[in-house]
Amino acid sequence: MKKKALNGLPTHVAIIMDGNGRWASRRALPRFLGHRQGVKALKKVVRYASKRGISALTVYAFSTENWTRPKEEVDFLLDLMQKTFVAEIEELHREGVRIQLAGDRASLNEEILKIWHGAEEITAQNQGLTLNVAFNYGGRQEILHVVQTLAKQVAQGEIALDAISEQTIANLLYTQPTPDPDLIIRTGGEMRLSNFLLWQAAYSEFYVTDVLWPDFDEDDFERALQDYAGRERRFGQVLAKEQ
Ligand code: IPE
Ligand code: IPE
Ligand code: MG
Repeated sequence: MKKKALNGLPTHVAIIMDGNGRWASRRALPRFLGHRQGVKALKKVVRYASKRGISALTVYAFSTENWTRPKEEVDFLLDLMQKTFVAEIEELHREGVRIQLAGDRASLNEEILKIWHGAEEITAQNQGLTLNVAFNYGGRQEILHVVQTLAKQVAQGEIALDAISEQTIANLLYTQPTPDPDLIIRTGGEMRLSNFLLWQAAYSEFYVTDVLWPDFDEDDFERALQDYAGRERRFGQVLAKEQ
């Protein structure tokens, strides 16, 4: 049964793209082939988000904890990310997509940063979908970065301690100026955030599907959007009809 629509389309959708390794293992293939197949799913999803008129999409591509994986897998993921962006940037630009890296830049090497800066610069004026790629991203590291930035500003007398607000914190997050995600989708069935958007997720709707990321397609995405449309968002309030 289709749920009654309470919400429209989410403005910002965030996705934890999980399950690449399992997708490969189930086919007796090496894990890296799952990651390669995952890129295909990402391309589909970016296009579908644009087509549906979603304003922003944030995708979790590599976490600060993913560095602890075997070196060959980490190296493969870094290389895959670079090759994918080099190959796709022109087309994404033509489609009006604005790309932004959401993650810790300080610990990334020059070569990777050059690719990101290039992609961000070329697409900066685009008016279509904003694509935040959460790469070398960790929610706790992001909050630490905000705390350090603000502490430095206070120490240097640039802002007063009392002037720190939720808004000043939000303004320094890696995803800014994108508003908090309305909907967070996780593929691969795990019911956890895995350090994703800890601050931003305060009132996001959470949708988990068992579909593994390489298999996630337009129909699966649409199912998540329809499910979101039927959710009642309360933000801690008592709704008028219940008073
Ligand atoms: C998600 O898939 C991709 C990244 C974390 C980079 P996984 O590699 O975590 O796949 P599973 O969860 O082991 O199946
Ligand atoms: C979350 O998936 C990170 C990405 C999808 C990039 P993980 O596979 O790293 O998360 P855990 O280890 O299952 O919590
Ligand atoms: Mg995983």
